[in-house]
Amino acid sequence: MKTKKNLNRRDFIGMTVAGSSALFAQSCRDWSTEVRTVTQQKVRVRYDINSTEAAAQRNIEYFKKAVAKMKALPRSNPASWIAQAEIHRKYCSGNLNIHRKGLFPPWHRAYLFFFEEICRQLLMKDKVADYADFALPYWDWTTSPQVPAAFGETVWDADLNTIKPPDDWITAPNIKWERLIQPKGRISGDLQLDDIANTTSFFAIIGSDPIGEFTGRLETGPHATIHNEIGGNMSDSALAALDPIFWLHHANIDRLWSKWMENCPDKTPSPNCQPEGCRDDCKYPPVITEWLKKTVEGFYDVNGTPISRQVINLLDTFNLQYLGYRYNDGKPTQWSECPVIYPINVPFYSIKSEVVDEAAKVNESKTVRVGNFLASTSENLKTLENLNASIAQMFQLKIDSQSCLSSPSLLLSIKVEKPVNPAISVRVFLNAPSDPTTLSIDSPSYVATFSFFESPKEAHHHDNLNMNSESRGFIFDITNTIIKLYNLNDSKPFTLEDVTISIFPRLINADSSDETEKIKLISFKFDLAK
Ligand code: C2O
Repeated sequence: MKTKKNLNRRDFIGMTVAGSSALFAQSCRDWSTEVRTVTQQKVRVRYDINSTEAAAQRNIEYFKKAVAKMKALPRSNPASWIAQAEIHRKYCSGNLNIHRKGLFPPWHRAYLFFFEEICRQLLMKDKVADYADFALPYWDWTTSPQVPAAFGETVWDADLNTIKPPDDWITAPNIKWERLIQPKGRISGDLQLDDIANTTSFFAIIGSDPIGEFTGRLETGPHATIHNEIGGNMSDSALAALDPIFWLHHANIDRLWSKWMENCPDKTPSPNCQPEGCRDDCKYPPVITEWLKKTVEGFYDVNGTPISRQVINLLDTFNLQYLGYRYNDGKPTQWSECPVIYPINVPFYSIKSEVVDEAAKVNESKTVRVGNFLASTSENLKTLENLNASIAQMFQLKIDSQSCLSSPSLLLSIKVEKPVNPAISVRVFLNAPSDPTTLSIDSPSYVATFSFFESPKEAHHHDNLNMNSESRGFIFDITNTIIKLYNLNDSKPFTLEDVTISIFPRLINADSSDETEKIKLISFKFDLAK
């Protein structure tokens, strides 16, 4: 496999496209059926709020102005602060919920875009020429983990402070809507950005919803952790958008999505896809074509007219017809004519087990040995045998592969019970050599950190409906961890049965340090996918 390394990606594309015969097939761009309501004049720039550039500084002032204007509008006006936050409230729970799903990135992209458009239109009523250039600032917590100075040096800035939720939104009696973090306070979560940037696939198809790999890791990792660390409205998924910092946090999430596409564009399902597939290995599974055709909705223009967008038209932020913005550090995405990368992990061997040991379930931090829970049917044993053999082979492949080419991955999905206080962050380790509470994220056993982003209302509502507690699923690519743990010592052959999984919950919000963090593992599943 040495030669593979010496080919660059363009050569590889050239070789394969030349051999293709279906270049004239209809492109997925033809799926677009939408009538555009806004066409931008130029690509506007979203700047880092910490940038010292004049245009960046100006946008912060304009943002403050726009927020103040929106806060002053009556709630009945769709352009008002509360009405805009209500959109998020509506799409964060129940059957409209776009969180923990493949719609998370495109829905929020459209939500921010139409919010930004309202800000701009409200500002432009004051007839200052520069207002037409306004674009949202983003808060790059990857390099500046402190709450930006614009939000207050010692006390919260009056315009950019969060607001008390309307009385009819309050469902928990002692709701803490004010931020828990201090002005200029520091974000301390396990951001794991390198791991997330290195994920090979946008989706992993697990169950009926495409989530996982990149989008799931970003959402349940840094995205949720930062919501919870800010606290107050931000940590409640039904109230989060009442806090102006929400928009800057999400602009950064959106920027990370663009960045990820810049490096390996075909890792995200491409608008250049061809429904029949230009080659056998780039034909999208139905769940992806469905995703590209979907419409995200719930938004308004400044006049209160409802607007929606098709996912296929939300992939390219530079496109003036549909979006027309870029990040100050961003480049246009260079999609290939015919995507060469199978952009999705589809499992070919899966093994799943319920964690039946009741006593083990309530440990504050728990470790399970996989072998203890795999039912010993002959079918399962066969799957295990195949899995072990394929994983051993995969170690070799993975090491040779280039980052933009998809290669087999070993995915771990876990189902845990939603905790009483969801403001916790959970670290996952494999084969922890000691008590996981003593391990750091630098340990070779470390896999990932995930957080919950919930609303207390959701919890009470469901508890009343049935006595069963709610569960939440999370998925991780554990290929590299497994390689690290086993390839280092190749005297010991790999067996999945010997793997142990540890989950270690940590409270994020310091306020409730008197409570004990507990997490219950309900089940785990391994998928070997490519
Ligand atoms: Cu819709 Cu950060 O959430």
